[in-house]
Amino acid sequence: MCGIVGYIGNKNVTSVLLNGLKKLEYRGYDSAGIAILDENRISVIKTKGRLYVLEEKLKNENLNGFVGIGHTRWATHGEPNDVNSHPHISNNGKIAVVHNGIIENYLKLKDFLTGKGYVFRSETDTEVIAHLIEYNYKGDLLKAVMNTMNDVEGAYALGVVCTDFPDRFIAARKDSPLIVGIGENENFIASDIPAILEYTRDVYILEDKEIVSITAEGAEIYNLLGERVQKEIFHVDWDVSSAEKGGYEHFMMKEICEEPSVIKATISPRIQDDRIVFEKFNISDDFIRNCEKVNIIACGTAYHAGVIGKYAIEKLARIPVEVEVASEFRYRDPMVNDKQLTIVISQSGETLDTLMAMREAKKRGSLTIGIVNVAGSSIAREADNVIYTWAGPEIAVASTKAYNTQLAAVYLFALYLARARGKIDDGTYQGLLQQLQMLPQQVESVLKERENIQKFASQHFNARSVFFIGRNMDYALSMEGSLKLKEISYIHSEAYAGGELKHGTIALIEDGTLVICPLTQDYLFEKMISNIREVKARGAVVLAITAKKNEEEVRKVADEVITIPDMDPLFAPVVAVTPLQLFAYYVSVMKGNDVDKPRNLAKSVTVE
Ligand code: AGP
Repeated sequence: MCGIVGYIGNKNVTSVLLNGLKKLEYRGYDSAGIAILDENRISVIKTKGRLYVLEEKLKNENLNGFVGIGHTRWATHGEPNDVNSHPHISNNGKIAVVHNGIIENYLKLKDFLTGKGYVFRSETDTEVIAHLIEYNYKGDLLKAVMNTMNDVEGAYALGVVCTDFPDRFIAARKDSPLIVGIGENENFIASDIPAILEYTRDVYILEDKEIVSITAEGAEIYNLLGERVQKEIFHVDWDVSSAEKGGYEHFMMKEICEEPSVIKATISPRIQDDRIVFEKFNISDDFIRNCEKVNIIACGTAYHAGVIGKYAIEKLARIPVEVEVASEFRYRDPMVNDKQLTIVISQSGETLDTLMAMREAKKRGSLTIGIVNVAGSSIAREADNVIYTWAGPEIAVASTKAYNTQLAAVYLFALYLARARGKIDDGTYQGLLQQLQMLPQQVESVLKERENIQKFASQHFNARSVFFIGRNMDYALSMEGSLKLKEISYIHSEAYAGGELKHGTIALIEDGTLVICPLTQDYLFEKMISNIREVKARGAVVLAITAKKNEEEVRKVADEVITIPDMDPLFAPVVAVTPLQLFAYYVSVMKGNDVDKPRNLAKSVTVE
């Protein structure tokens, strides 16, 4: 996720762009840049680092002009550095582009353009757009951008300036948000409303595959057929603070609601021609076939994603997997060798325990893969291979969307391993790929029912202690549900393997004890129904999370049932975790806690 701004009018363009980018830094902040159109020249100033680094650099520049675009980056393709930062310039220097999103067919387009003599300077997918617009440009900028939108596949929000058109700039969107701000003899574009609120509250919200030509006098919106699109002005009445959260009360809820889009962003670019493709991956099929064991090492929520990964990889690829918290792994002189693969999972890519654990594994010869959300982070730089979770910046301390995308990445890799080891046939492989691609809409359907979860939370936010019980993947899911609740509601909670209760912990169940049961694994359904009966018999109040097809059966034993769509149980955790995240969120809000910044916690634990 990145931040885009654009401006045309009589104000100082540089300050308008910088002010806008400051309001969008939550969308990405590893590099930033602006392009100003001054008469028939484009000045581009861009740099690695936070926005203040760009601001310092601009103090030495004397930029004039009435049109400009700006960008603050959250790297996906190409690590954060000056060259990879936006804006990107066409070879002839006449066109500058800023982009938010992922161009899924950029490698094919890059080959095509290279073959036409275009020279690439960066590792980004975005630079393809700059050269492609130049390639498509025959004197009509709007048409050139329109044709380029037809050539690219993937998600984009674009801002485009061209020296031949000093009185306008072009913007376009597909799958990445973009708005047009309408002022008095000045107009704007932005990825999000906060960037322009100090100048105007009147906006057009662009829909997918819409393109807009913007002058100081107005904005003309078209569809990809070149037909004009008439739009109503949306008047924004949010205050600045709630605008930065997209109108949500907390970043955590905003990020939970982003889960469908970021799961899609993590999965779809990696399924090309019906097979899984990881960018810049250098693990041979031969190594995979001879690999004796997979280690998964992480902390907290990332560790819980790793436990799900164990079940998925062992089930699909039939290779032993050991999952361990990094702080334990790194100090036990682990028996790791060069016939093992070590996966480290980390949202921040900076968790010290996880980084040090990965170094221990590398020291002992293991090949490493980082499943990381932050491009250019320490783990991303030091791992032998990286699978990025394209979840965008996660601001709330309690990890939500990052966890869902960690699972998506783990499932992709489990399938990749299974295929390379010949453990699943093509039909099974294709079927599972189709199931994976249904996850965003399945999470979306759960989000639509969040009022039921809010209602249940309102009945239990004063609970003294909460139990989460599950079996197999549902046990791993219970771990995450319990951590979410603990870290933002401050209520004591524990996750137990359903079959373990009778070995002691059922002594803790008394009248009114809240027990939450994810029940998504069909083959263990009857066992879990027995566990629910066990705790009910001792007075527990039970909330079950299960597939729609089981609702009637489960309602016979549980007090409350939250359903998820009927789906392959293998992938159910990606969907069933969302009700657990929402439950924790609503309980925390009802207790009056600081949901986004819970006590004693930091977003990234870079200390021992
Ligand atoms: C998750 O809600 C917590 N904030 C915490 O457990 C976190 O998952 C853990 O510190 C690992 O962080 P990382 O994913 O950035 O490595």
